Parts: sequence; C-alpha cells; structure tokens
Amino acid sequence: MAYRYIIYEKMQGLGKVRINRPEKLNALNPDVYEELESVFIDCEKEPEIKVILIIGDEKAFAAGADIDAMSKGDVILAYQLTNQSQRVQERLADMPKPTIAAISGYALGGGLELALCCDFRIGADNVLLGVPEINLGIIPGGGGTQRLPRLIGLSRAAELIFLGEPIKAEQAEKWGLLNRVVPLNELELESKKLAQKLMKKSPVALRAAKNAMHTGLNVGLKEGLKIEQDIFCMLFGTSDQKEGMAAFLEKRKPTFTGR
Ligand code: COA
Repeated sequence: MAYRYIIYEKMQGLGKVRINRPEKLNALNPDVYEELESVFIDCEKEPEIKVILIIGDEKAFAAGADIDAMSKGDVILAYQLTNQSQRVQERLADMPKPTIAAISGYALGGGLELALCCDFRIGADNVLLGVPEINLGIIPGGGGTQRLPRLIGLSRAAELIFLGEPIKAEQAEKWGLLNRVVPLNELELESKKLAQKLMKKSPVALRAAKNAMHTGLNVGLKEGLKIEQDIFCMLFGTSDQKEGMAAFLEKRKPTFTGR
C-alpha cells in the first residue's frame, strides 16, 4: 500500500510510523486510520520489526479525530467512524511487540487515544495532552473514557474528560500519563534509546509479559494470577528461558532469539 499520510520506515529492528498530515495538525481522518491499520498489520507480521515507534511532528502528535469528517455526520456515520478508530486502536493495543508513542506538541482526542494504546509514552517538553471532545458536545469515542480512568484513575480522567482542557508535560508525567518528559530536540533519540533497550530483551518474554498484563487487567485478581502462572510456566518451554538463565550462571550477557 502506498501511504499518503504516514511515513513508514523499518530500520534496525524498529518500525517507525510517522503521522504526516502537518497542514491539519495530523488530525486523524478515515484515510489516516486506514493507513495506520495497514502499517500496524505489517508491523505485527514482519519478524525483523521488534519494537514499534509512533511519532508526529514538533507541532502535533495528532490533534484528534478529524472534526471536518465528523461534522457532516449522523448516528450511522458516527458509528462507522468509531468502529474504524476503535478497530485500529485495538490492533495497536494488542500488538504482540512493545510500542512507544513519542509525543510532541498537541496530542488531543483521538491523538491521545492512539498514544494510550502504546506501552510507553515519551513526551517532549512542549506537549499538550487532552480530550477536548466535551467542547464539541460529544465524548471521546476512541477508548478515552475507558483507557484514561484505567491508566490515571477516575478523578483525574474526569478532570480531563469533563473540562476538556489540555495539560502540560509536567502534570502529565506526575499523573502517569507520560512515562517521562525529555527536551523536544531529544524526543526521537530518547525514544529510540528505549527501543534499543527493549530489543535486547527476549521477544517471547516481552510478548508474554504484555499478554499477562493486558489479559489480567480485564479479569479479577484471582483469575489474573492464574493467567500469570500459566504464562510463566509456558516460558520454561522456550530457548530464551534456557539462554537467559544459562547466561546469568555463566556471567555473560544473554543472546535471545525469540524462540
Ligand atoms: N480536525 C480537523 N482539522 C483540524 C483538527 C481536527 N481535530 N485540529 C486542527 N485542525 C486543522 C484546523 O482546522 C486548521 O486547518 P485550516 O488551516 O485548513 O483551517 C489546521 O489544522 C491548523 O489548526 P489551527 O486551529 O489553525 O491551529 P492552532 O495552532 O490555532 O490551534 C489547536 C491548534 C489544536 C488548539 C486547534 O487546532 C484545535 O482546537 N483543534 C481541535 C482539537 C480537538 O478538538 N480535537 C478533538 C477532536 S474529536
């Protein structure tokens, strides 16, 4: 697929996805979502990609779902739009590889919701994060009302969702919405450093950890602990477990193969 709104590069284990619609602050219209979906499918199945990095430009990660596309809509169109955005976001959230959102500038509405589907959110010091949908007379429709309370708690999520006012980097970091904040000109470099660290880990153990955490969040503690136990035991059938423990005992660095 030829991409118009995405720049997709594969380099040294990294799948780098740049949202590239600068004239509209990277607003996510159905075409952008379609391209993201295609890229995420490729990232998942491409064995040479170990970590996925999603990035925008200095001014915007993404300023939300495309209001122009939504404004002409009725109930049916609203359903179609959220169906698409939620499908794409679920694909990202379920990605069996680590995902990093490198956020600069505006990450609003659907832009923030996309970042919420990543395992890590690294923020530049110029970020403005929020869900302003309430100011349009609607609510977040791409997972915001569900993922925000799970990540930062009900009260802080209510503050963001009810008031619709964006917050800055420092507050977002304090709330746990960002893993960390870095200077704008170091955003990509720092995010890539994180990706490189992740690439040295066992891909099969990373996938297992992500699966245990995500599945566990949707069930009670007892069931979650059972899921963890099953996945933990399953890893003892992998070469990476043998290699990881042998390397420790032999006082050397492990070389994981993902098997
Ligand atoms: N959907 C569609 N177009 C958008 C957009 C969105 N979510 N966000 C920005 N744009 C467009 C603007 O319409 C403008 O297009 P134009 O030049 O053709 O008029 C262009 O991007 C630049 O935006 P502009 O508003 O001129 O930039 P700004 O620096 O003055 O303001 C924002 C930046 C982010 C504060 C402002 O664009 C904004 O409030 N955007 C909407 C955010 C939002 O509500 N997102 C949730 C949607 S559900």
